[in-house]
Amino acid sequence: MTDNPASDLTLEEKASLTSGADFWTTKAIERADIPSIMMTDGPHGLRKQAGGSDHLGLASSVPATCFPPAVGIGSSWDPELIERVGAAIGREAAIEDVAVVLGPGVNIKRSPLCGRNFEYFSEDPIVSGVLGAASVRGVQTQGVGTSLKHFAANNQEYDRMRASSDVDPRPLREIYLRGFERVVKDAAPWTVMCSYNKLNGVWTSEDPWLLTSVLRDEWGFDGLVVSDWGAVNDRIAGVAAGLDLEMPSSGGRTDAQLVAAVQAGELAESVLDTAAGRAIDLVRKAQQRPAVEGALDVDAHHALAREAAGRSIVLLKNEADLLPLAPAQKVAVIGAFATEPRYQGAGSSLINPTRLDAALDALRDVGGENVSYAPGFAVEGGAIAASGRSAEDLQAEAVRVAAEADVAVVFLGLPASEESEGFDREHIDLPAVQLAVLDAVLAANPNTVVVLSNGGVVALPFVDRVPAIVESWLLGQAGGSAVADVLYGAVNPSGRLTETVPVRLEDNPSYGNFPGEFGHVRYGEGLLVGYRWYDAKKIDVTFPFGFGLSYTTFSYGEATASVVDGDIVVRVDVTNTGDRDGREVVQVYTGLPGSIVQRAPRELKAFASVALAAGETRTVELVVRREDLAYWDVRVDRFVVEGGEYTVEVGASSRDIRSSVAVAVEGDAVVLPLDLNSSIGDILGHPVAGPVVQQGLAGFLGAGDAGAAEDEGMQKMMASFPIGRLVGFPGVPFTREQIEELIASANAGV
Ligand code: BGC
Repeated sequence: MTDNPASDLTLEEKASLTSGADFWTTKAIERADIPSIMMTDGPHGLRKQAGGSDHLGLASSVPATCFPPAVGIGSSWDPELIERVGAAIGREAAIEDVAVVLGPGVNIKRSPLCGRNFEYFSEDPIVSGVLGAASVRGVQTQGVGTSLKHFAANNQEYDRMRASSDVDPRPLREIYLRGFERVVKDAAPWTVMCSYNKLNGVWTSEDPWLLTSVLRDEWGFDGLVVSDWGAVNDRIAGVAAGLDLEMPSSGGRTDAQLVAAVQAGELAESVLDTAAGRAIDLVRKAQQRPAVEGALDVDAHHALAREAAGRSIVLLKNEADLLPLAPAQKVAVIGAFATEPRYQGAGSSLINPTRLDAALDALRDVGGENVSYAPGFAVEGGAIAASGRSAEDLQAEAVRVAAEADVAVVFLGLPASEESEGFDREHIDLPAVQLAVLDAVLAANPNTVVVLSNGGVVALPFVDRVPAIVESWLLGQAGGSAVADVLYGAVNPSGRLTETVPVRLEDNPSYGNFPGEFGHVRYGEGLLVGYRWYDAKKIDVTFPFGFGLSYTTFSYGEATASVVDGDIVVRVDVTNTGDRDGREVVQVYTGLPGSIVQRAPRELKAFASVALAAGETRTVELVVRREDLAYWDVRVDRFVVEGGEYTVEVGASSRDIRSSVAVAVEGDAVVLPLDLNSSIGDILGHPVAGPVVQQGLAGFLGAGDAGAAEDEGMQKMMASFPIGRLVGFPGVPFTREQIEELIASANAGV
């Protein structure tokens, strides 16, 4: 027995284990009893291609339950639900003998234009990290691995295989890596998938800092790093940096390069041993998967998909309680999405669903003949489009049907061709033809509900004119039924926005820095991503981060906050003040007024989805982890918790704070070496030099006629004055030599 499971293999065998056999499987070595394993997409269902393979989802795959993509299920803010769905996906993978499901994706929604936002959870790293960890935990309970992707700073599709994401250290650590770190530390995914792009000029597939220093040395990741499909630029540099497995197959070409590099002494064999050893570890983990009992229960998983979809829907507006509908009301359903649902995005995550619910059928199951229908407009590729009916004709029919009903429910959404992996959107507008139909319907029947189907945020120019708006995102295969559940009130909506709905695309922080040019995209907005920006700049938004209504209402008591073992424990009473059972998503934001570093006014640090029966009050306890208070200190290259009075705000969105409390947090010590360019402020803050200089300068500053020691302005000015420039000034009570001595002993810790 040796420590490294690869050390008994030949050089060629080791190299062979570190790249794929084909599109989806690893290579076997029979003599060493190492079987091949399969990894497939992910993330919101299983996409196992049985026949032809291609990673962009064009060839069909075995039927699997299509759960809501991250844009939907993320809106539940509920790790427990996401874990259950993960477990169901894991079970489907196990039944199909798939060892690793390629997901979840926890990249930050930096711009609403990113074509792949439907596959990501949020513009906030805590939401992404907590929900991503839940997904990993769920899948892995079934003895099936996950692949946390796309590591890292892959926040757009445009030029994704070449562009460099140029990100400063603080936003990189505090926004773009924080979610990954959370998932790695909390849920130990079996694999991490590096992204296609470069990060600050270095391909992520060959970045030793990212793949080894950060991921393994700092975060303790001990699984395997797999390339995104085709992300390898230089295989030898990749393996040396910590990339263990190239996918898909390179046809043996890069394996031969590795062998030659080891033989030529350009790559240490021990490095290849490590990568091959991790590939074997992964196979061994997969072999331990317990045998699956029973067959796939398609109905049970469809029911779970329906529950998850119901929990994904965000009620944005509901004037005069237009919703929920009553079965006796005459309802005009308008919009081809009601019969031809958009339920997932295009690309590698395309699931072949076991069944597909259309909203119109589900609404008729409840409302029967009271539900009429007109397509209103054509959806590309659908039956109405094929019928060749004119836009005028479709609109006129919609108006007629709407005019005869008590309520019109208009299904609007983005065409499938606008949202896909591989390219970004160019705007955030709904198609003009749909907006025109909505206007015409509104004129005929003001009791109009809009139901949206979209994977990325859309502008809502009609927000003030439409009394009720339901954001139903992309909901997976049971979305049609879930929409009916919410519209008729069988499900009380409880989704909340994990991203801001801006008034205009131009208001978005990345605007002007997206998607970059000539191979570089500069993350110029820095830390102020999403709501952090809108709140800092006090920019009006259509709907804020964290927002969502319910058919009931919730009230909050006074929050309390105390530090327990370094973490902040927040308690607040939340009451369901209405007459329906419901769920509230309680959100905790922190801020540090007067911080020494730039911060957003409030940053989400904890949340909880809480079920409350009508009239029920519960004390909700939320924990803000100390490490989540930390900023990345570029002076010492590590996370530092700044001491001070933190504001802890508890609320129902970033703009609906219900209770606020202050709590004192002790900071981490940051002692920087002093030199003659250290400012008086730096020196006064130093544990050794501070008291000495304080005493000496008190006399100096107090010597002036105006009593300068009392003069705050003078003190502020002196705070940034380098000590080396001060010595020699008339009246300064220190010689240069004395200061040099003091600095030397301070740096020596004396
Ligand atoms: C995507 C990954 C996916 C892989 C395999 C790539 O194009 O970026 O998310 O897992 O293909 O299909």
